[in-house]
Amino acid sequence: MAQIQFPYLGNSLVMAIVILTHVFLAFIAVGGITIAVVSEYIGYTKKSPYHDLLAKKYMNFISNLMKVGGVFGTAIVVLLIGLFGEFTKTLFNIFFFPLLLEALMFFVLFASSIYYRETWNNTKNKKLHLFSGFIAALAGIIAAFIINTVWSFMLTPGSYFKNPSMTSAVFNPLAFSSFTHLIIPCVINSAFFFFIYSFYKIKTGNLEERPFYKWAGDYTGKITAIFILFQIVSGILFLLTIRAIDNSIFTKIVAGDASIFFYSMITLAAIAAISSIIFLLTRKQAYVVLLLGGLAVYLAFPLGGYTRERARKPYLIQGYMYMDQRLATAQGVKKEVTKENILAKYGCLSCHKFKGQGGTFGPNLTNVRLKLNKNQIKSILKAPPPGMPPFGGDDKGIEQITETLLNK
Ligand code: HEC
Repeated sequence: MAQIQFPYLGNSLVMAIVILTHVFLAFIAVGGITIAVVSEYIGYTKKSPYHDLLAKKYMNFISNLMKVGGVFGTAIVVLLIGLFGEFTKTLFNIFFFPLLLEALMFFVLFASSIYYRETWNNTKNKKLHLFSGFIAALAGIIAAFIINTVWSFMLTPGSYFKNPSMTSAVFNPLAFSSFTHLIIPCVINSAFFFFIYSFYKIKTGNLEERPFYKWAGDYTGKITAIFILFQIVSGILFLLTIRAIDNSIFTKIVAGDASIFFYSMITLAAIAAISSIIFLLTRKQAYVVLLLGGLAVYLAFPLGGYTRERARKPYLIQGYMYMDQRLATAQGVKKEVTKENILAKYGCLSCHKFKGQGGTFGPNLTNVRLKLNKNQIKSILKAPPPGMPPFGGDDKGIEQITETLLNK
């Protein structure tokens, strides 16, 4: 079956756009429900009507957002199966039960948030109402945790492929620091969204509404600013964890060909941190400053996601499967090897170009015969340089590849 190629944009870019849009909306929804239920709880215990009103407005907005987010979520699954079938099959096999649990969590999230939204005015049973909101938030957070385990597994599969077990895949080396770095922006993205809305309402809303929106702007602004500072700490920890697990990934992030995205993100994060500190110190006078900081975060968000994807290149699953869904381990490759296809069969073309075909991660091998002799090529295959995986074949394979590279 021929591999589908998405017209115009290419498979990777289509995935990136759809996933980023979904993640952006999903973050606002998960963070928003959490802020809503916590605010309602504060409103209930402290008898503060503003907290309660804010919670209610949040929920109305989020329930629409969740529908749009859900459409994008479905599109992700369709695109994954159609465009990256082998890869999707691998992940769904490894994470079958966690993903099933995730589907259940979506159901709980949707059902309980509908109940939460629809029973707002039934004040007789406030505790039950709060409880349904709490369940919705928890289901969203668990779903985020599960997706995060799959995502972090792709970067740090740990010992899974040597010793496969579902638990080791779920609790892969990066699972927790990656989760913290993912759940904090849920809060930031949604608090900042409401902050922008409040800012707009303060400028344009009618007079009765203004006191509420002034309060709401200050409240969501504080949450935004504090969580931006948390996120910076979690980012540093995340990066240090990556360095401890696999220094080559760390080097790719800070010094590889995608490091420009990383440093742009760092610059935006610095702007966000400074604006957050100014806002927290001066508060209401500094609305515009925080607006700038929050927008910097929204820009940093896709840059961070992109940096993380690039950190894995040329792999889809680090060390195991290449971007073109070829397996890095060359098991079962030896049959059907011919002179024409040998470099493809052993996965070399995932990274190297040879006579016009292949990737650009490693040097072009077309004229390598002018640079290296037979023994040098053999010793490279026996002891590959950093960035190149160990050779999966035997001595005969090495001989055949060397011949291919040396022939005109
Ligand atoms: C995961 C990516 C990757 C794969 C797969 C890969 N290589 Fe490499 N290879 C590299 C990188 C990166 C370098 C350059 C390392 C450096 O800068 O020293 C390299 C260097 C080389 C060199 C030295 C080239 C030169 O100009 O000095 C040869 C020869 C080579 N690879 C052959 C192969 C062969 C044959 C295969 C398949 C069996 C293969 N590589 C598979 C990434 C890869």
